[in-house]
Amino acid sequence: MKSIIIIGYMGAGKTTVGKALAKELGVMFYDLDWYIESRMRKTVKQIFDEMGEKGFRQIEHNMLHEVAEFENVIVSCGGGTPCFFDNIDYMNQCGETVYLKASAETLYEHLKMGKGVRPLLLNKTPEEVQVFIREQLKQREPFYSKAKHIFDISVMDDFDKINDTVQQLRKQLGI
Ligand code: S3P
Repeated sequence: MKSIIIIGYMGAGKTTVGKALAKELGVMFYDLDWYIESRMRKTVKQIFDEMGEKGFRQIEHNMLHEVAEFENVIVSCGGGTPCFFDNIDYMNQCGETVYLKASAETLYEHLKMGKGVRPLLLNKTPEEVQVFIREQLKQREPFYSKAKHIFDISVMDDFDKINDTVQQLRKQLGI
């Protein structure tokens, strides 16, 4: 099996879906943010605070190259990973890229409930977060759309039924 690389905006469920799919297929799972944190011994937030977004993107690019070299694995990327350097083209060369597509409204609902610290969303009011998601999603869509497979989570009756999502995704990918 070629590696599967999951992309999409923050809150799309990349980590949850990637982990469940890897478990079902019995392959290793890597979350790029977690990989960066363990390799750098710093949280993503610390890296943003110390090196700015530019520094983070360089590290992310380098770490993507490490992880994408692994064979037969599932990788979930950060929301911005495909949108910098030639990352999306590189990912398409390395594996089967899957865009987990969701509307700005759905993403906002997921992010509202999420506990993770997202440096790009800090210090914003709920209204500002909604506007930010809408605008950034528009800018990022051209990169996300370059994925080989687009899995629209709005087709799911209940995205929280993770097993159903995994089965649908397997069907779409033919694995
Ligand atoms: C980012 C998304 C985050 C993380 C960083 C930047 C982005 O990952 O990489 O905070 O630019 O969208 P998740 O999509 O896993 O939250």
